Amino acid sequence: MSGAHQRIVCLTTSAALGGAETSLLTLIRAVRRLEPGWDVSLIAPAEGALLEQCGQSGIAAAVLPYPPALRGFGETGVRSSARSSRLTSLGRGAGVALTLPRYVMALRRALRHATVVHSNGLKAHVTAALARSRRVRLVWHVHDYLQARPLSASLMRRLAHRADAIVANSDSVLADVAQVVGLDRPSCRIYNAVDLAAFGRAGARLNLASLAGLADDSRFVRIALVATFARWKGHEVFIDAVARLRARERVRAYIVGGPVYETAGSQWTIGELRQHVAARGMSETIGFTGHLDDVPAAMRSIDILVHASTAPEPFGMAVAEGMAAGRAVVAARAGGARELFTEGATALAHRPGDAAELAAKLDQLVADPGGRAALGARARLAAAERFDPVRMASEFRKVYLG
Ligand code: GLC
Repeated sequence: MSGAHQRIVCLTTSAALGGAETSLLTLIRAVRRLEPGWDVSLIAPAEGALLEQCGQSGIAAAVLPYPPALRGFGETGVRSSARSSRLTSLGRGAGVALTLPRYVMALRRALRHATVVHSNGLKAHVTAALARSRRVRLVWHVHDYLQARPLSASLMRRLAHRADAIVANSDSVLADVAQVVGLDRPSCRIYNAVDLAAFGRAGARLNLASLAGLADDSRFVRIALVATFARWKGHEVFIDAVARLRARERVRAYIVGGPVYETAGSQWTIGELRQHVAARGMSETIGFTGHLDDVPAAMRSIDILVHASTAPEPFGMAVAEGMAAGRAVVAARAGGARELFTEGATALAHRPGDAAELAAKLDQLVADPGGRAALGARARLAAAERFDPVRMASEFRKVYLG
């Protein structure tokens, strides 16, 4: 396969802008800069923020709708051996199996001119493997632990021989992939990238207090959890940690984000979280901004970024983004996320789910503005090296060319 005139089609499971889609968008933009002669386009199952972003960047994007059974189908990703949830999942799987062939046929047509198919998301890996022709090179870009999703894992084990290469977003996910699909597939780890210019220190800031409908926050240290509303992102741990702070009256906390995915039952609703906050008597201390399109501006508007996932985080875009924005980051010490920083030097960390330890780390940072700034400055330097889009695009270029 020659390096000239590649036609790369990226197939995404979601058109919302969660971590996996933000990663893909940053990659596509960087590949286009690196290889201006290549066609890089996108196929999504629905309209959404990802397609709007593609439009703004001049990236060709098409919608190929999922059949309804496939649209709402998803496994929550929380490690569980509960028989009942497996059975529910298998039951829904049967519905998907019935409607899948027509979608796969349409996808095969949509992919007919591609030289490389880059699948992003579990449903995309499976459908791309079913639809691929022999001429095309299929790259699975895996963002999540497969073992946490038994049905997807078993499908992917069966279909792995159709993937020419498997890329994982962290060493931790790569190890999980190897256990599920075996070690005989060409596979590697490529860390995600962050738009370093957008996350630089200069730029717009947001008035988070007014977005959250709270009083002015200028005399407070601002702490935020920036995450989708997936249940394992640790919102309840964050709320509990803020409630335990010694320095609570000097702090304003924000929950930034919303329920962006369509997968049934796997997310908090904002009502549930508000109730949680109200029950702790913290409605004036913890505000909800909703989903914010301008994540760099949100990062610039806070002092401390919290990552609180209770299950091992495959990568953790918010951690990388918080570091790139030069914020003091406190992350959950597990999964791929712990590969992103050096504890004590470029971020602080806590045991996943341990609100007391998280609160202690936050108190330490609230009390020490100088230490906070130094941690953020070291984080920015580390991020500029690790999360550079040019690095990510060059690594993928090699994988695309085989
Ligand atoms: C998935 C993972 C998350 C990661 C993102 C980008 O959403 O759950 O940890 O940051 O993909 O790779």
